[in-house]
Amino acid sequence: MKFVVANWKLNPPTLKEAKKIFQNQKKQIATLRFVNTIFAVPAPFIYPLAFSTRLKRVHFAAESVSAEKDGATVGEHSAEQIASVGATLALVGHSYNRDRGETDELIAQKVLRCIEAKVVPVVFVGEKERDPAGAYLRTIKKQIQTALSLIEKKHVKNIMIVYEPVWAIGAKEAMDPEQIQVMILFIYKIMVEIYSEKTANQVPILYGGSVNAKNASSFTEIAKLRGVVVGRASLERSFADIVKAFNFKS
Ligand code: PGA
Repeated sequence: MKFVVANWKLNPPTLKEAKKIFQNQKKQIATLRFVNTIFAVPAPFIYPLAFSTRLKRVHFAAESVSAEKDGATVGEHSAEQIASVGATLALVGHSYNRDRGETDELIAQKVLRCIEAKVVPVVFVGEKERDPAGAYLRTIKKQIQTALSLIEKKHVKNIMIVYEPVWAIGAKEAMDPEQIQVMILFIYKIMVEIYSEKTANQVPILYGGSVNAKNASSFTEIAKLRGVVVGRASLERSFADIVKAFNFKS
């Protein structure tokens, strides 16, 4: 099964517009059988969208989640709270939040909170820039190792990993499919090393960064790649074409 994640970020401005965008896209993807579509939407939109939808392969994600269960934290939402309004996944470690202080250790806490609440953490990893010596590969390995360090091995199959190099976000072009292939296999190998081949095969690995309706089909042949994360293009009508590109049996 493949996965396409729509990352709406701070869009659209109103619930009315959110419903309109979602209804349009829903119509186009409702009958697709081999792909799961995940709508990561601003928290106020989760409940109204999720509870008006009963499609098996359409899911909702919170764009962030608190590292705390409850208490005095102000302005965040816990994994249990987002689950109670219809989110079955949560994005963790997006570079936007890493830039604002979400460390690998904090990400590990959030992953644990998600697992406790039976919410699937969608863990973002990726380098800011590349160096000729390949230090960025160590960065990615550490991001993965630390993010998963607090959960038991048996729960690792309940996560997703997104490889999203920061330099490819909001860019003119996505990363080259051949380069993506190298990184997806690198991440897969890390998972084999830390856990096992079986576990590595259970964890979907996705690519994110400037995916759109034009380039989506160039990523469908990448070995071990289970789907994509879409930012800007997820609000467009043509988003459904990206989902359709991944609707094949594998
Ligand atoms: P983009 O965003 O598709 O607009 O590059 C991706 C993301 O930030 O997840």
